[in-house]
Amino acid sequence: LMAALEQVDQTYIMVKPDGVQRGLVGEIISRFEKKGFKLTGLKLFQCSKELAEEHYKDLKQKPFFPAMIDYITSGPVVSMAWEGIGVVPSARKLIGATDPLQAEPGTIRGDLAVQRGRNVIHGSDSPENGQREIALWFKEGELCEWTPVQEPWLI
Ligand code: TYD
Repeated sequence: LMAALEQVDQTYIMVKPDGVQRGLVGEIISRFEKKGFKLTGLKLFQCSKELAEEHYKDLKQKPFFPAMIDYITSGPVVSMAWEGIGVVPSARKLIGATDPLQAEPGTIRGDLAVQRGRNVIHGSDSPENGQREIALWFKEGELCEWTPVQEPWLI
């Protein structure tokens, strides 16, 4: 009916190994679907140390860096690309503060996590990092550009 009034962006969302182990994948995907964003990439896989280190390269000097890399590579993650107007800051709001004890109830971390080093989910912090991270975590051909259609799916 109407063209989007604002810029459409992409963000990289990742359910971290604790979220997969705890069976929270469906719950997390559901929150982004219900909000109204469009899923354009989705895969479960075990990432390498190299990939985890490249993803978090800006935090390389932090004291928690080695423990964080061990955590991210400890089991499979679910990598997702989501698209929509304002998707980057909106996803950060849905996710909540880095420290789950500071995250508001109603947010993913506020509802589902306790520890900062086990905070269930990642979301890109800028549209530029969204592009960078999607390119890093997905290969050519793994993303799917699609247009929602008006179809009576249930009848
Ligand atoms: P950061 O990019 O600051 O947070 P966010 O994930 O909310 O964008 O940090 C990246 C991850 O590093 C964070 O999700 C959890 C981990 N981390 C720690 O383990 N300890 C810490 O003190 C901080 C600041 C982050």
